[in-house]
Amino acid sequence: MRKKVVYFDNAATSGIKPPSVIKAICDCLKKKNANPGRSGHSLSVKAAEIIYSCREKIGELFNFDKTENIILTKNATESLNIVINGILNTGDEVITTSMEHNSVLRPLTYLKEKRHIKVTIINADLNGQINPKDILNSISDKTKLIVVTSASNVTGTKMDVEKIREIAQYNNIKILVDAAQGAGTVKIDFKKSPFDFIAITGHKHLFGPQGTGALIIKNNEELEPLMFGGTGSQSEKIIHPGFLPDKFESGTLNTPGFAGLSAGIEFILGKKIENIISYEKQLTNYLIKKLKEIEEITIYAANVERVSTVSFNINGFQPSEVADYLDKNHGICVRSGLHCAPEAHKTINTFPNGTIRFSLSYFNTKEEVDTSINALKSFIIKNKN
Ligand code: ALA
Repeated sequence: MRKKVVYFDNAATSGIKPPSVIKAICDCLKKKNANPGRSGHSLSVKAAEIIYSCREKIGELFNFDKTENIILTKNATESLNIVINGILNTGDEVITTSMEHNSVLRPLTYLKEKRHIKVTIINADLNGQINPKDILNSISDKTKLIVVTSASNVTGTKMDVEKIREIAQYNNIKILVDAAQGAGTVKIDFKKSPFDFIAITGHKHLFGPQGTGALIIKNNEELEPLMFGGTGSQSEKIIHPGFLPDKFESGTLNTPGFAGLSAGIEFILGKKIENIISYEKQLTNYLIKKLKEIEEITIYAANVERVSTVSFNINGFQPSEVADYLDKNHGICVRSGLHCAPEAHKTINTFPNGTIRFSLSYFNTKEEVDTSINALKSFIIKNKN
């Protein structure tokens, strides 16, 4: 009989959603399934309320009260692209890090070719940590933007985004934080740490469904939109509205998705994010302790301030081989390979094969960690010659 699935791929998407998320999506499709902000009828108004409430929930989680500056997108990639494409012009310089995901490095590389922007990539150390001084030393009078992840999707390393924000803002440079991995796992309080832009995804640690994301914009910047189209506002004009959030929200939004994301954030607010972070930290520390006991295993960035993502390898074996074994023989779902962050692997010396990545969530348990550790041991025994 097939064993119960252990889902340790939460950095890719959270596998278990709170039941309230599923209910909210179904309720929206059953009872409030209209186009938000387009028509005047009662169902359309209810759909618009879902959208508004989702902005409010995001604002509450990040302690940010300008709800109109919370742009709803389809994922963190879209949010990052809005800022990167919208702000950088020919001759501008941007500083980023070697721990970034391709959703940052690819649009920057594209603009390097197309708009001749200069991209400086600051190398992290073997633990995936960035020295903020290296960023400071790379600033020139043409630096317009710093893009940094709040936590690496490869090693789980938490970045010192607060220090980097201080450097950026002292030097009058905008800072964009990629919070794809950090939203829900790192406490970001906008009142204390007013980043210029925060890109969020809904489907990872915020427990929403795929196809939901957001961009928090501190001020109404001179950003060019990525897309133009219908917004339900100023319909008499063929020129795209310039006010937020409509400027960046062309086309019908994913209302059922945002109903789910609202419920996911409500779940976090109900539990309190500190408690979720603390539980995940305990479980991750336990996982690392158990991995350290296996001498055939190399863990990357084992001793850093981190989120619940851990990368490792079994010496002498391909990460994909181990991940396949875990899935097929033990029903354990993990990601292996490069995790769409090739520069991060060059940094920690795991390019081109990558790592085995376990990423935990609030819904995982100590028993599941034990099951996985036993499965790794059985792989090693089976393959010992
Ligand atoms: N960016 C996601 C990951 O790290 C998909 O797996």
